[in-house]
Amino acid sequence: MKVIVLGTAAGGGCPQWNCACRLCAAGLPPRTQDCVAISADGVGWYLLNCSPDIRAQILSTPALRAGPGPRETPLRGVLLTDAELDHSLGLLMLREAGGLPVFAPDAVLSALSPFRAIIDGYGGWTSLADLPGLRVDVLPVSDKKPKYVSSAGDGPWVVAYRISDLATGGALVYAPCLKSWPDGFDAFVEDASLVLLDGTFHAPGEMTGVGGPDQIAMGHLPITASLARIAGRPGRWAFTHLNNTNPVLDPASAEHAAVVSAGALLPADGTEFSV
Ligand code: MLT
Ligand code: MN
Ligand code: ZN
Repeated sequence: MKVIVLGTAAGGGCPQWNCACRLCAAGLPPRTQDCVAISADGVGWYLLNCSPDIRAQILSTPALRAGPGPRETPLRGVLLTDAELDHSLGLLMLREAGGLPVFAPDAVLSALSPFRAIIDGYGGWTSLADLPGLRVDVLPVSDKKPKYVSSAGDGPWVVAYRISDLATGGALVYAPCLKSWPDGFDAFVEDASLVLLDGTFHAPGEMTGVGGPDQIAMGHLPITASLARIAGRPGRWAFTHLNNTNPVLDPASAEHAAVVSAGALLPADGTEFSV
């Protein structure tokens, strides 16, 4: 299975348009919002989440460009981990692809029903039933609802995916929103070839510098907590969904060095893996 990390930033990206914090102003290589593309055969591709940056992400990724027919595309469907806008707004951007297959937990689909009603005017979404050559396992990981959801609806609101390549036996775990190290997560990641983990925040209290809530309230386990879990464990671990407050964004920082020395990766947008 091929895995392309299309975007590696949390909501807003880095730099964020309305933010003049130290890291947004530092001139670091820009990062677009979290989104991943996977393919078992290198021909048909599935998106894990669908960021508001999806148009630019597709156009900068040759494997995802339209063709070979005039209105053909290698995109075969989208799986959502949650209903956050940074993970789902791209579905509106993909409205030109009428009938796009989408899979998401029920609560997520229900939260997105106003979007769906809009997209219905452009050919709608269909249900993504299966991914040829791939097996999908789903683990509910958090009950954190998006800010725009006021209903009490039952979750799960956030899931992680384990995508296994039936031919190679390789497996990707994608968990960009972890409120905690969830029950069952150790078994879920066991023997995975690559684990893409929530790297939103480096440490507790990080958002206080820009007047935000703490990182647990935002539903994101800080890297300092997850790094302790993965240190010394075999496998490839990588952090994604990096918030623009996160000091690991700066390759010269001690925090970046600590992640790397624990054996974890901080891939840039466009990084490709083979699992
Ligand atoms: C999150 O990951 O917590 C959300 O995307 C934050 C937001 O944009 O409201
Ligand atoms: Mn987010
Ligand atoms: Zn910023």
